[in-house]
Amino acid sequence: MSKNQAFHRRGFLKTAIAAAAVAGVVSLPSFAYAQSKIKVGLMLPYTGTYAQLGVAITNGFKMAMSESGGKFGGHELEYFTVDDESSPPKATDNANALVTRDKVDVLVGTVHSGVVMGMVKVARDSGTPLIIPNAGAGAATGSQCAPNIFRTSFTNWQPAYPMGKVLADRGIKKAVTLTWKYGAGIEAIEGFKEGFKKAGGTVVKELFLPFPSVEFQPLLTEIASIKPDAVFVFFAGGGGVKLMKDWQAAGLKGKIGLYGSGFLTDGVLDATGSAADGIETTLHYGDGIETPKNKTFRLNYAKTYKLQPDVYAVQGYDAGLLLVAGLKAVKGDMSKKKEFLSAMEKAKIDSPRGAWTMSKAHNPVQDIYLRKVVNGENKVTGVAQKALADPARGCKM
Ligand code: PHB
Repeated sequence: MSKNQAFHRRGFLKTAIAAAAVAGVVSLPSFAYAQSKIKVGLMLPYTGTYAQLGVAITNGFKMAMSESGGKFGGHELEYFTVDDESSPPKATDNANALVTRDKVDVLVGTVHSGVVMGMVKVARDSGTPLIIPNAGAGAATGSQCAPNIFRTSFTNWQPAYPMGKVLADRGIKKAVTLTWKYGAGIEAIEGFKEGFKKAGGTVVKELFLPFPSVEFQPLLTEIASIKPDAVFVFFAGGGGVKLMKDWQAAGLKGKIGLYGSGFLTDGVLDATGSAADGIETTLHYGDGIETPKNKTFRLNYAKTYKLQPDVYAVQGYDAGLLLVAGLKAVKGDMSKKKEFLSAMEKAKIDSPRGAWTMSKAHNPVQDIYLRKVVNGENKVTGVAQKALADPARGCKM
């Protein structure tokens, strides 16, 4: 139904209801209450190396929506789902299809930094609100920031930067970095380098391989010959599992310290076995955060999905909480866009990671935890940096 038709239908219903009331008819036909639906476009990876991440985000998101009752001022939710395959070349077409064909009211996605930049472009061009539940591309809340673009996760810089100081303060002065050569990895390494250099460390070699390759062997041989004090990496999902297993098999475990932003060990500990034991990472979440909110969240998630939640589930959940804040403010009426965006901007998200608010650039201001893998859990051992905001370089808003 077009907006125009919907308007005329509402007019007809009003007249019919009034006539029925005058005639003393008390029971109204149930269709009289039918309201337009709130269309939510979920664009996430459901295949490939990040498939599990997309599923966890979807689960967390839907859990938050169902906890809220799933209805706002009589408007129900309707989901439109696209598998983006973590493929940047398909990103703009996929996002455009959700906006122009499905006419979604809000876009939610995605995991991969290259793909999210396609979504950012579509959101900027169309004005459709976008909530990013993972991808850390700095530009989304940096040079390309916009009033309708929000992120509930992190920038790639954010969890990596504090690890530089953590290592340098331990007397580690010579490090090698290793990552997939694409936006997220490059920005994470830049973040680590910035923190490490500031605290007195030196990165002696930067190693890369193309996304999503897992041909680690030659690079591990090179690392063994350099013998650095530490190696800082960005990997996630299946690629991270393979790296940790190859690291152990190559005999590097226990000889050279392996560190990373916490995506390396999050959501994958069932698959790594002993290869992940003792690995330290920095991230805005940890399994064992001792708050009532985190405990309830973990219990409910495990009960609902028969899976343990991870950082991706938390970010999806928080994307849901953010949307709920916006929808409640306008009672589900998506034509009140200014009010909707302003409510999301001011929201205080009561997250399992700890409460957080939006920076001016629409990225979480949040604590970054130091974690260590112990008994198959990402145990929080300290706070690496409190209330860290991304510098949002280039954001003019
Ligand atoms: C990203 O591409 O921005 C990305 C992907 C997976 C992660 C973190 C960041 O775990």
